[in-house]
Amino acid sequence: MAQSKPGTFALGNKEFLLNGKPYVIRAAELHYSRIPKEYWEHRIQLCKAMGMNTVCIYLFWNIHEQKPDVYDFTGQNDVAEFVRLIQKNGMYCIVRPGPYVCAEWDMGGLPWWLLKKKDLRVRTLNDSYFVERTGKFLKEAAKQLAPLQIQNGGNILMVQVENEYGAFGGEQPYMETIRNSVREAGFDKVQLFRCDWASNFTKYQLDGVATTLNFGAGSNIDNQFKKLQEVYPSAPLMCSEYWTGWFDHWGKPHETRSVNSFIGSLKDMMDRKISFSLYMAHGGTTFGQWGGANAPPYSAMATSYDYNAPIGEQGNITEKFYAVRDLLKNYLQEGEVLPDAPAAKQVITIPEFKLKETAPLFENLPEGKKVEKILPMEDFDQGWGRILYRTTIPAGAARRKLVITELHDWAVVFIDGKQIAKLDRRRGDNTVEIAGLRKAARLDILVEATGRVNYGKAIIDRKGITEKVELLDGNTTTELRNWTVFNFPVEYSFQKQQAKFSVKSANGQAWYRGVFNIDKTGDTFLDMSTWGKGMVWINGYNLGRFWKIGPQQTLFVPGVWLKKGANEIIVLDVDKPSATKVAGLAAPILDKINPDASMLNRLKGQNLDLSKEIPIASGEFPATDEWKEQSFNKATKGRYFCFEATSAQQANDPLTTIAELELIGEDGKSISSLKWKVLYADSEETTASNSSADKVFDSQESTFWQSQAIGAKPVHPHQVVIDLGEIVGVKGFRYLPRSDKKTAGMVKGFRAYLKVTPFKL
Ligand code: GLA
Ligand code: CA
Repeated sequence: MAQSKPGTFALGNKEFLLNGKPYVIRAAELHYSRIPKEYWEHRIQLCKAMGMNTVCIYLFWNIHEQKPDVYDFTGQNDVAEFVRLIQKNGMYCIVRPGPYVCAEWDMGGLPWWLLKKKDLRVRTLNDSYFVERTGKFLKEAAKQLAPLQIQNGGNILMVQVENEYGAFGGEQPYMETIRNSVREAGFDKVQLFRCDWASNFTKYQLDGVATTLNFGAGSNIDNQFKKLQEVYPSAPLMCSEYWTGWFDHWGKPHETRSVNSFIGSLKDMMDRKISFSLYMAHGGTTFGQWGGANAPPYSAMATSYDYNAPIGEQGNITEKFYAVRDLLKNYLQEGEVLPDAPAAKQVITIPEFKLKETAPLFENLPEGKKVEKILPMEDFDQGWGRILYRTTIPAGAARRKLVITELHDWAVVFIDGKQIAKLDRRRGDNTVEIAGLRKAARLDILVEATGRVNYGKAIIDRKGITEKVELLDGNTTTELRNWTVFNFPVEYSFQKQQAKFSVKSANGQAWYRGVFNIDKTGDTFLDMSTWGKGMVWINGYNLGRFWKIGPQQTLFVPGVWLKKGANEIIVLDVDKPSATKVAGLAAPILDKINPDASMLNRLKGQNLDLSKEIPIASGEFPATDEWKEQSFNKATKGRYFCFEATSAQQANDPLTTIAELELIGEDGKSISSLKWKVLYADSEETTASNSSADKVFDSQESTFWQSQAIGAKPVHPHQVVIDLGEIVGVKGFRYLPRSDKKTAGMVKGFRAYLKVTPFKL
């Protein structure tokens, strides 16, 4: 039972000590910003009923400091209230204040306004502005939460320093500075910890701070902790993020992790008295504009953060929930009893209805701003949403090209009001062909931002058009200038004021409005499957992004945001709906993906011809699951890298699975993958699971490329060809096999190729 008189929590010999007694943490990660405040306690109680004794939370800096020095910890942002609710329900709390948190959240929790500094660098001491801002935020966070440290009679057992820094850098002084900031901010008594991966926690050391590891469902527990036990023989063991499922990307299959593999490794941890935190116990929803993205390749997060977690998006109990509860009831502390789950939240359906009022976007433009050179959204003090860039293109008889550097993240291009192209950053689109123009014409580029990168080195991710737009005419290149810029922020107040509705049909980009009546409120899932791309507001609440490509086709509507009687809905669609109707469903649709052949890494008829190529290296890897390194005879220059698997560790296994590939540069360090692009993969499993070939350089060790595994199972050899984006000197490469307990597809025989010129496809 979490107490209200001062207590202690400390590191003992291979165990945590709560008030001097051994304690195994069974934590559930919840994000208060992904759960409507009215439901906070319901979700906390569900976690307790599932067998948890602790709730683990991130703090999201960017919701608390939306403008520099203006802090908000009230209402939905009242994190101290959330922690007190946890205590009220007899549970402890672990706090992860960042300042960087990742979490599939816009910019990993960093405020977008930092980007107004042109040369911003983050997560490093090399930018004193960044360091100063993190210190200020941590102080405000501690004002809220430091009184709740266990030593003060609160329920906070531990506080995390930064987040998975080993996967980003190894700058030990930076981590020491953040650790000191956390302490100086006011978290002065509580035990600190840091979380990293088995493969990278040794990149830096942090005195006085416990080390915990993150890994996913189905991991081999003994392997995961082996190195940690060697380095820190007396450390208590904890998996600080045990991934229960995984997050969804727009346009990629819905992610799931099987109950069996998930429960198996959880049991392994319980049998060894290893503490854990379920990431996520309940994911909830990334409402509004807060979804992030991964890169490379750029890939935005879906709105639902269901995560295939034990507690579903609506707070519903799933099969995984029961599996956890059934397991954990065998491992309770003395005297502990599991409470029943709280009553389910009411679900309603809303019959289909049409949105009859429209306000075409181009007829409802806000006031434009004139700039000579194109600028990203942040320079107009706009954090999120859409932005329209308008200028004039001179007449020209021949076909010309427009080249955009860089498009973040999706755009529709118009000449004299006529739509001529759609561009998508996920595909690396940046060029538009323009037919001959007899007269000068109006060019409009409407850009939608679909989430700032939250992970890895691409995290400096300004939105709109970041640098320039050029017109290519034969051999001459001219940068287009003199833009008029129109900003479309995401706030409801803007939509309300800007869109002048009338009852008529719209063609093209538009706002749509409707009113629906209900006689009882309850949670529902808004079916958006006939709409294109955009955002929805109900009664002023921003439900988040929708996109017809799926996998998510519904948006979660919390019943507490609805009213008996009339409710208003506004949809902004920057693509095009096929029907302007919606309905409230009783269950979500999270797994209906509309296939898009242009996203595959093997086009129809493509075959890689390696018959005339000479491998730069070949050999066999041993059957273990750690990183393996292969050097070349000498450093070689090249731009196109091909990895070919010729056999798997198990005889007759047709599959290839690869978690990561890294190239080693002439300086012995791994080469940045920011400019990499998959040009070809002979086979990919992109239906049953999200295992496309780009997973070999997404810097996530738990995701992997897999050749097709369901239905047809093409046999070896399997090849992936990567364009490195520029010619680089390479000394060798590193390969990481999948690290779950399964071994299917683990590479044995391989050949590697590196060339300055493209491979024949
Ligand atoms: C890491 C991060 C989390 C989250 C998960 C993936 O473990 O620490 O914030 O991004 O990956 O869901
Ligand atoms: Ca990966």
